[in-house]
Amino acid sequence: MNASMMANDGEPDAEKAFFVADLSQVYRQHQRWVSCLPEITPYYAVKCNPDPYVLRLLAALGTGFDCASNGEISRVLSIGGVDPSRIIFANPCKANSFIRNACKLGVDTMTFDNMDELYKVARTHPRAKLVVRILTDDTKSLCQLGLKYGAPLVTVPALLTKAKELNLDVVGVSFHVGSGCYDPTVYSDAIARARYTFDMAKEAGFSFTLLDVGGGFEDASFEQAASVLKDAIEEHFPDRRNIRVIAEPGRFYVSKAFSLAANIIARRAPFSDSAEMTTGNDQPSVMYYINDGVYGAFNCILFDHQVVHPYVLSINGSFHVPSSEPGFGSGIG
Ligand SMILES: Cc1ncc(COP(=O)(O)O)c(C=O)c1O
Repeated sequence: MNASMMANDGEPDAEKAFFVADLSQVYRQHQRWVSCLPEITPYYAVKCNPDPYVLRLLAALGTGFDCASNGEISRVLSIGGVDPSRIIFANPCKANSFIRNACKLGVDTMTFDNMDELYKVARTHPRAKLVVRILTDDTKSLCQLGLKYGAPLVTVPALLTKAKELNLDVVGVSFHVGSGCYDPTVYSDAIARARYTFDMAKEAGFSFTLLDVGGGFEDASFEQAASVLKDAIEEHFPDRRNIRVIAEPGRFYVSKAFSLAANIIARRAPFSDSAEMTTGNDQPSVMYYINDGVYGAFNCILFDHQVVHPYVLSINGSFHVPSSEPGFGSGIG
């Protein structure tokens, strides 16, 4: 209602879509995390939603941060009070300038999964604490990140040997089972692979102290995933006195907390007096156009294979803006 009044008054941005955030949801997800996985420190994946209020809340709750770029590192440090040691630069393929900048800012922990990255780090941040990102089974996830990242286990010994040669310090292992993981049992296999990597590291002369179990946590299956993870860690890492376990949850923390408010800005109506026409293939003939799309907030449909659930805002069952025009079914609930 406000938007249409402001638009009438000439306000150019009046009808922009906007997000409504409920930060208590972020807090609740954190409580769930702490109660199910007290041993695993979450490093929130900033790329999922870099909103400063989310970052501030999570910083106050004591999480770490998984950053994938210079921009994300700056955002986290700019909120104040976050020591760079609470950041993992979890992008295995970084620009030289990004690594140099991380070095300057004191962000030392960073992932790698290929030989070239080791040469880059040796040149630009020789005292980095490296984490080898391994490939795990991501076939049970909506977004299969293994297409881009993760060293197959057979390549790990050569990577570790090269790291030794270059005098680099490799401190641990990370993986990501893929975002939108719908079969949490994959965490078990991933932990077994991480264990194998710890053993290979020992052979290569490294003493790993960091296990990073990545992201992929879903709201609906979180408790099940947590239980699989805990059991697998107990089985494969029974003695964890010198091992810090962290994770990189992203969507789990923020997806429930944000709703997009969009306006209907146009309507393609039927050229008929009848209240509702159908095109013959069960599609409503009336199409409503909203002020956001797949090039904006709805890119999650293309990239993350998400299904969005639209609903119409109403007060006590009636619409905000009374209309003299007839209503039409649109196919949304
Ligand atoms: C390296 C890394 N860590 C963590 C995440 C967060 O994953 P999710 O949102 O599935 O928890 C992603 C992907 O978004 C990622 O690429």
